[in-house]
Amino acid sequence: MATNRTFTMIKPDGVANGHMGAIIDDITKGGFKIVALKYTKLSAETAGAFYAVHKERPFYADLVSFMSSGPIIAAILEKDNAVEDFRKLIGATDPTKAEPGTIRNKYAKSIDANAVHGSDSDENAEIEGSFFFSQLERF
Ligand code: TYD
Repeated sequence: MATNRTFTMIKPDGVANGHMGAIIDDITKGGFKIVALKYTKLSAETAGAFYAVHKERPFYADLVSFMSSGPIIAAILEKDNAVEDFRKLIGATDPTKAEPGTIRNKYAKSIDANAVHGSDSDENAEIEGSFFFSQLERF
């Protein structure tokens, strides 16, 4: 994956609360091109593997349980400076601290159910995109 790409998920709360379309609209209006897109549901095992980096954190078990609680959308996005610009578009992890107009400010209810994921580095964008999409699917 090139460094002008990032990886995102619309989390179970974003899908369950009916914000899927609005979030995708914000993403494309933010200048991101959708390179790959998947509607799926994570098992606890798969969610645990995706968030393995947080294994020692106190919120890990709840995070895994939440992320496997309902369907999600996974996507690879393309834009210049994708990782940083996408983190700006979604806002802070805690929606009460997210800037007005950001996706988490508009659609997230809490720090744990915060509507969207965005990769935090080019390296993780590549790892996370490869976690969900085969080479054939992320042309
Ligand atoms: P983190 O990587 O710190 O945030 P971000 O998603 O903004 O990169 O944390 C990953 C996810 O873990 C976060 O989106 C929601 C969850 N989480 C909690 O449930 N409680 C917390 O206190 C933190 C920091 C994160």
